[in-house]
Amino acid sequence: MTLPNLAINPQRLWDMLMDTAKFGGTPKGGIRRLTLTEEDRLVRDWFKAETEKLGCTVTVDEIGNMFAVRPGKRSDLLPIAMGSHLDTQPTGGKFDGVLGVLGALEAMKTLHEAGYETNAPIEIVNWTNEEGSRFAPAMLASGVYAGAFTRDYAYERADRQGVSFIDALEGIGYRGAEPVGQHKFGAMFELHIEQGPILEDEGKLIGVVQGVQGMRWYEVTVTGQDAHTGATPMYLRKNALLGSARMIDRIDAIAQKYAPNAVGTVGLIENQPNSRNVIPGEVFFTVDLRHPDEAVLQQMEDEFRAALPEILDPLKLTFDGKMIWKSPAVKFAPELIDCVRVGTEKAGLASRDMVSGAGHDAAYIARVAPTTMIFVPCLGGISHNEAESTTLEECAAGAQVLLNAVLEYDSRLA
Ligand code: GLV
Ligand code: MN
Ligand code: MN
Repeated sequence: MTLPNLAINPQRLWDMLMDTAKFGGTPKGGIRRLTLTEEDRLVRDWFKAETEKLGCTVTVDEIGNMFAVRPGKRSDLLPIAMGSHLDTQPTGGKFDGVLGVLGALEAMKTLHEAGYETNAPIEIVNWTNEEGSRFAPAMLASGVYAGAFTRDYAYERADRQGVSFIDALEGIGYRGAEPVGQHKFGAMFELHIEQGPILEDEGKLIGVVQGVQGMRWYEVTVTGQDAHTGATPMYLRKNALLGSARMIDRIDAIAQKYAPNAVGTVGLIENQPNSRNVIPGEVFFTVDLRHPDEAVLQQMEDEFRAALPEILDPLKLTFDGKMIWKSPAVKFAPELIDCVRVGTEKAGLASRDMVSGAGHDAAYIARVAPTTMIFVPCLGGISHNEAESTTLEECAAGAQVLLNAVLEYDSRLA
């Protein structure tokens, strides 16, 4: 069976990306749209209105995930989902997550305009709190959907100011009635920017994503003793920040040892009491370790755990370190990967296979439905940065392959 030639509208997609960037837009041209904030509510309201204009039915589950469904010819088939997220990092760019939702919306607009009837219903999903920046861990709501966390575990997550997820969710009016996981779909395709340099380096427009690397998050509190910086001799100090600094250096060294596939980062640090003439008595920091091979990731974790007493004991510091999240390496569904390949060839675009370095909702959804991802380049591989940049042509290429892949999958259901 040959697929129809439905061409997405690149300028319309670009205009949506630029227009919705005003919801949380920053002076440096990025987006600050932390999950479950007023900015998040505004973009959600916009998304709901836009999809309803296309005749979609929008439902919201108890954790704020939004599903916009366009009916197909056959109601006995589960919908084919296209999903990603509309929340961003505190200094996020305009494309991380957003491209996956708006590229899907552009694909949906193209179907609508053509009056094209798919076999299965087609839907767009906006997953709540993918970033995990305000409420850790990342991919929280897709994780609840996939059974990796309970709903109440998510409700109890609190931001660094102590506001709970459930209060924030109710605060923006997006606690829906539908039990999480009840809304089923038969497959999910997630379009995303690569967030790394490979596609750009090789001059390829499409990444055919094979899976997602394993990742683990830890939280460490190092305790020493507040003391006067002038009156406390060096030999008497219990400097929690000094110990943390040595740990940060060691975490980098562990990742360097297993590079190029390993990465390790301390991204959040809180120093107490943070006064220039007080020796820091307590430091909180986070650790993010990733590797595509679980065995190597475990080795990295073992070395990190061994480093804690080795570095902190001689400084007379105590510590409390714990793993707060673990997302094992994921392999995507071969049949969907094949649909992406077919869709890429149909669009006549150069591609390469790759593994995702970043976490994505697709990593959890792969546990409950056939899932895959499509990547497009981003300038200099820079992401989680207001300067994140992907061109109109690159965004359009991704949305076109997304539509082609969905239609290919749909034709196979006939
Ligand atoms: C999500 O953006 C992650 O990879 O941490
Ligand atoms: Mn993302
Ligand atoms: Mn992100």
